[in-house]
Amino acid sequence: MANIIPLSDVDPALIEALLDRAFEPDRHKRTAYKVREGTQWLPGLSFAALDEDDMLVGTIQCWPVALTDANGRPHPMIMVGPVAVVPDEQGRGFGKALMVASLAALSPQAPLPQVMIGDPEYYGRFWGFSNAPTAGWTLPGPWEPRRLLVRCDNPDVLPRQGVLGPWRG
Ligand SMILES: CC(C)(COP(=O)(O)OP(=O)(O)OC[C@H]1O[C@@H](n2cnc3c(N)ncnc32)[C@H](O)[C@@H]1OP(=O)(O)O)[C@@H](O)C(=O)NCCC(=O)NCCS
Repeated sequence: MANIIPLSDVDPALIEALLDRAFEPDRHKRTAYKVREGTQWLPGLSFAALDEDDMLVGTIQCWPVALTDANGRPHPMIMVGPVAVVPDEQGRGFGKALMVASLAALSPQAPLPQVMIGDPEYYGRFWGFSNAPTAGWTLPGPWEPRRLLVRCDNPDVLPRQGVLGPWRG
């Protein structure tokens, strides 16, 4: 069974090593890294999964970003990801447990919209993420429009057009 702990309790070098195993070696060039460039992951929303032997098997990080609308107004959002589970342990529920931990930690009073780049088949099916509201959004690098996902209580409040980038509050 997964043991979920705050990511801030994990050695940063172990987190990087895990991400290297879950993603391709040039992962730092991914557009998601540019969207959150210069920001730090949010300790209250970022978690690690340990296996039965207390080995690190998965991580989730969330970041402060903003969608800047056509009038230059920033709309704060939470960027979710990367969600990463080491290849040997995938399909055992660790990914779901990490997502539950982060989404449950969002403020119930004022949850910011959550945005991510991921497979709509996974994040739509289990968590209600959708690419429909993001069709007019742009990112600071190449992206597949179908994989730009957002989740929020009332999608009608989201700007139809905007540029996603780091939160510079
Ligand atoms: C995506 C990832 C985090 C999922 O974690 P996981 O621990 O393997 O997933 P879980 O065991 O919690 O969930 C498994 C379920 O999700 C489904 N699933 C997993 N990845 C999927 C994907 N990319 N698309 C569709 N369904 C997917 C499985 O089919 C399974 O469904 P079932 O419960 O009906 O059998 C993990 O596979 C991973 O680290 N992949 C490499 C990194 C990555 O691509 N991260 C996502 C982008 S940030």
